[in-house]
Amino acid sequence: MARRRQLYEGKAKILFEGPEPGTLVQYFKDDATAFNARKKGVITGKGVLNNRISEYLMMRLHEIGIPTHFVRRLNMREQLIREVEIIPLEVVVRNVAAGSLSERLGIPEGTRLPRSILEYYYKNDQLNDPMVSEEHITAFGWATTQDMDDIVALTLRINDFLTGLFLGVGITLVDFKLEYGRLWENEEMRIVLADEISPDNCRLWDSKTNEKMDKDRFRRDMGKVEEAYQEVAKRLGILPEAGIRDLKGPELIQ
Ligand code: TMP
Repeated sequence: MARRRQLYEGKAKILFEGPEPGTLVQYFKDDATAFNARKKGVITGKGVLNNRISEYLMMRLHEIGIPTHFVRRLNMREQLIREVEIIPLEVVVRNVAAGSLSERLGIPEGTRLPRSILEYYYKNDQLNDPMVSEEHITAFGWATTQDMDDIVALTLRINDFLTGLFLGVGITLVDFKLEYGRLWENEEMRIVLADEISPDNCRLWDSKTNEKMDKDRFRRDMGKVEEAYQEVAKRLGILPEAGIRDLKGPELIQ
């Protein structure tokens, strides 16, 4: 089969040209990075699990009317998505203090926040994704005020929905990061959810024990990283049928 044209390679995913104009294929790697790629590693089976988890969450969000770039999963590691113009922002939602918020403001990890807090980071590896305000975003034209109204409304709905969904399977949604894109249809532009939602970009804690079930296990060298991602998939009811053996993808039969 002719190799498809690769358009972009990120830290955890590769984008290929899709089968029709306006589509892309998003391939999920096992590579993991943290601290702007200063820490690198491989989490075996992560790509397969994140492909599944993100598919599942995007489908559930679609059901409640959230527009997303997701079209369908193609195979173990790939999904078909709509091509969008990525808005260069990381939108972070926090429900419980953790990570950089705890470090910066001295609020102990695990403190429930008085209300959900939104933060924006400018997607720019050279600058280390600096935190920015809506003032910077609109002044520099990364997004308009109308775009930001849509992004805030969508993000709050997504947070409400995912908080409940995870709580239902015994997981606290501590915080997570979203990315959005612009999709043009018949001269009209819509803001849609893009990228992925997975334990790579969420903090997920067991609701009873507060045990971490996300990429912090890799960032902080806590071990049992693969197992944690698998447990998230298992609780969501989407672990590939054959379990862990299935995670490496199809094997060539000699
Ligand atoms: P932080 O506490 O390090 O700022 O992270 C907040 C949330 O955003 C956490 O769930 C991890 C996620 N995140 C990403 O997905 N990508 C990133 O580059 C960073 C820094 C955080």
